[in-house]
Parts: sequence; structure tokens; C-alpha cells
Amino acid sequence: MTYKYYKKIFQGKEMPFAFIDKDILTENTNQILNRAGNKKIRLATKSIRCRAIIDYLLAVNDQIQGLMCFTAPEAVWLSKLGYDDLLIAYPTVHREHIRDVAREVKKGKKIYLMTDKEEHLIRINQIGEQEKTILPICLDLDMSSKFPGLHFGVHRSSVNDKKRATTYLEAVKKNPFVALVSVMGYEAQIAGVGDNVKGQGLKNTAVRQLKKRSLKEITKRREEVVEMIKDQGFALELVNGGGTGSLESTILEEGVTEVTVGSGFYTSTLFDHYQKFRHLPAAIFAIEIVRQPAKQIYTCLGGGYVASGAAGTDKVPLPYLPPGCKLTKNEMAGEVQTPILYNGKEALSIGDPIFMRHSKAGELCERFNELTLISKGRIVEKVPTYRGEGQSFL
Ligand SMILES: Cc1ncc(COP(=O)(O)O)c(C=O)c1O
Repeated sequence: MTYKYYKKIFQGKEMPFAFIDKDILTENTNQILNRAGNKKIRLATKSIRCRAIIDYLLAVNDQIQGLMCFTAPEAVWLSKLGYDDLLIAYPTVHREHIRDVAREVKKGKKIYLMTDKEEHLIRINQIGEQEKTILPICLDLDMSSKFPGLHFGVHRSSVNDKKRATTYLEAVKKNPFVALVSVMGYEAQIAGVGDNVKGQGLKNTAVRQLKKRSLKEITKRREEVVEMIKDQGFALELVNGGGTGSLESTILEEGVTEVTVGSGFYTSTLFDHYQKFRHLPAAIFAIEIVRQPAKQIYTCLGGGYVASGAAGTDKVPLPYLPPGCKLTKNEMAGEVQTPILYNGKEALSIGDPIFMRHSKAGELCERFNELTLISKGRIVEKVPTYRGEGQSFL
């Protein structure tokens, strides 16, 4: 895509704004469907945060099915709006939130609560008993690898081997108002760590080797724990794994029934650096040049939408178009202004846009009430983000 193409589409539009290029979204979706092989795809809503886009993706075909929510209130909100098959990927310990889920489950909705500790089970069980309903739960199996001197992965679940899984299953059996019907193992160190970062040759090699070593071990772990759970008589409805960055390896595991994908649809900058795939930027935001303090410096209003996670330059939004635009080292992307260094071919003027990309997919939507959808050179629709619907969950 070119600077001129987007600039023409948005001529006269007030900035800042965020938009989705639906043609690119479609291209990314097709690639993701291919990458997922014959596994079902569950949508990671945290990486989308816009119902119109969720609806669009759910309607693509039956391979895309079910939502991975990030909080119980989000799942309940979506359930009340008619969505079903909602896996809440992180534990819920707030009793009223569990009760709200229970009330949706009683209506016949499929909502899975995430667990890995006895405390989770006891709380859910208490509410289930009070509400006179059995609540479906999911075991979050930790998928990080412990190497000498390195915790490769994220600090997530307390269940990280067969022994702890056995203890967890004993606790499940003591709580009759929970039903263990699903397992999730998210291999963040494979799915969320780029292994093809420009200018980091040695580090890329090391990361790829670590990934290879980790995969061997965690594949076995997931397979063994799932087998053990089945052997103990639990009927599993789903085994979820992976994310945008790990589809190639996650789909090789027979026991995994579905993969999760979110970020790959929008393709934020953190997902530019993988050896096995390359999706295209579909979610973009525009900031307006309001000053030109020096010949090749174009200062824009706003723009400092920095992403969560370990603080670093990879969490800063990046200029996308025109090509060759750069942030300054001292200011980067600021709360009220973002100076852009540029000496390329476009004749930039005050009032022109600079097109930017966020480092994380869904967080962009926490900055804007709406997304403008474009296709084939024109604006086709304006749709609210979660924030635009008055919903902000984390
Ligand atoms: C449990 C879980 N599964 C899957 C994903 C992958 O999401 P994405 O495709 O947006 O990277 C995440 C992201 O953090 C996650 O927390």
C-alpha cells in the first residue's frame, strides 16, 4: 500500500483516527486459515476489541469458531449480546463476576472459566452450588520452559507438570459444581517472541534454538497431561493452544483441537519479526502534521500510544507511511506530540497525515472510539471499538 493511496481515501478527515484496511484483513485471514491447517481457530478478542471485526471474522467460515475472552465481564457482555462458546483465558476470582457467568451458563450458554489452583475451584464451586448449576472450567497448563538460568516463557499457571496436574485433578474431584471440560496451554515463548528481528542475527539464532528445545519438551507435556486427564474420565470438549506466532508448531500436535489467533488479523509491529510467516499491516492510525520545526522534521499532534509489556523500543508505535519516516531517539512517540524525521520523496505539509502502526494489536482500540473500515480505495463503514461501546475491561 502507498502513502498516496491512504491519503486520498482520508482527504479532509479529522485526525487522529484509526482504520482497518479490509482488503488486507481479508488477505491476512486467508493466510491464517491456511497456516492453521485443519484446526479450528478461536479468536483472541483482546487482540481485536471491536465487535464488527469479530463478527466479520466469525462469518468467514466454520473454521473460525468461538471466542477467547480476556475477562469474565467481557464474556458476560458478549454472551448477553448473543455470542456463545466463550473461553475466558485468565482466572476470575471476583465472586460477583463468577456469579454473572453462572447466570449466563444457566441460560444454556457455553462459558469456560480458567483455573489452575484449588482456590479458583473452591470459589467457582461455591457460586455453582449457590446458583444450583455446574460450571464448565478449563485447566490452564503452564507451557513455559525452565532452562538453567533462564525461565523461557511467561509466569502463568501453577500447573506445569504431571505431578501438579494430578494434585489439581484431585482438587477438581472434591468440587462437584465444577466440570473440567477443557484444557488450554499457551506457549507464549513460541507464539509471542519474534525470531527474525532485523539487525539481531545472533539473538535470532539463539531464540530459534531455544524455541526448538522448548517445543520438544512442552509438546510432550501437553500431550501427557491431556492423556492423563482423559484417562481419569474427564470428557474434554476442547484442547486449546498457540497464538498467531506459533501456528506452524501448534497444529502438529494431534491432541490440540483448536488454536487461538488474534494479533495476526491486524498485524501490529511485534508480529513483523517471525521466520515462518509474514502478514501485512491491516490496522493503522493517522496523526496530523501540525508543525515543522526544522527542514526534515514534521511534528505531529499526539501519537504516543505505547504498548504494555516489558518496556522497550519495541513497544513504541512506528511510523509506517510514507516509507522512510522515523521517530527521533530523544522523543519517540509522545503524549502530545511526535516529531517525525523524513527526507523522502513525498512533499509533506502541515495538515498532512503520517500513518502509524501500534506495537500490539488490540491495545490500539483502547485509544479510539471507532475504526474506519476501508476497501478498494474508499471508506465503507465506521464501527465502534469496545471503547466506543463504553466497554473497557483491562
Ligand atoms: C491465552 C492466550 N492464548 C493465545 C494468545 C495469542 O494471541 P495473539 O494471536 O493475539 O498473539 C494469547 C496472547 O496473549 C493468550 O494470552
